[in-house]
Amino acid sequence: MTTPILRSLTELRTLTRAWRLAGQSIGVVPTMGALHDGHLSLAERAKAECDRVIVTIFVNPKQFNNPDDLAKYPRTEESDAVKLAPLAVDAIWAPSGDQMYPAGFATTVSVAGLTDVLCGAHRPGHFDGVATVVTKLFLQTQADRAYFGEKDFQQLQVVRRMALDLDIPTHVVGCATVREADGLAMSSRNLRLQPQARVAAATLYRVLSDAAGQLEQGADWTALREAAADRLLATGFDEIEYLDLRATDDLRALTAPEAGARLFAACWIGGVRLIDNLPVPGQALRKRTDPVRLSA
Ligand code: PAF
Repeated sequence: MTTPILRSLTELRTLTRAWRLAGQSIGVVPTMGALHDGHLSLAERAKAECDRVIVTIFVNPKQFNNPDDLAKYPRTEESDAVKLAPLAVDAIWAPSGDQMYPAGFATTVSVAGLTDVLCGAHRPGHFDGVATVVTKLFLQTQADRAYFGEKDFQQLQVVRRMALDLDIPTHVVGCATVREADGLAMSSRNLRLQPQARVAAATLYRVLSDAAGQLEQGADWTALREAAADRLLATGFDEIEYLDLRATDDLRALTAPEAGARLFAACWIGGVRLIDNLPVPGQALRKRTDPVRLSA
């Protein structure tokens, strides 16, 4: 069965209104297309938990701080629809740029604090673009639940904060990162890796897992960080944007692991920027009493 692809907000609203009147719950999986198994696992989870599922495909110009990156972003709507067909989701919401941002569009949703660090510090305006489009997607689809991968962990926390602060009644569900057999986190950007860089790229996961394991054993983070960075550069990574130990809830920098600690990395290889993150084992299970904790 082919999935209906909706382009106009009127069509989308007619559909969601009918679902709501029938008392059906709606799940949304926001994507920029170039779907891989990670996206499909989000759609599968949404199917299992919601009566109706919408997958959105929109390459959001507002979240690209680099025009070259936007131009090179893969646009594969036809094959995305083919990949979604076996899942039998109810609709693909694929608005045009003008539908999403009509002439005169003047609103930005900006989440303070969480966006100052990690990717936010290296990609000015990126999270304003994400928060703005995700706010619109939540309101457009009227979703009860929205599914995001933990690979973009900072994005997940920003979206949670945004929904909480704006009283948007969409529950944000974080889903475990889906990995290739060698550990590389699935990402639409992996398509751009040349064969040699693709092989080397898996080192990022190995370095993070080893560091997480060593932290659990009590290793010193400063020394570990230096060794991990050296190993990445020796394997073929060209640049390390960040390699940080941070708290899961508010993303503040840590010098030593504590409950909820997580490792975060962004590195360049063969002209492609890769990100990944992992919890430090043994830390995630202990309870924190921090009042700014975000809902899971
Ligand atoms: O993670 C993505 O693909 C995008 O940032 C998102 C959430 C679809 C917003 O454009």
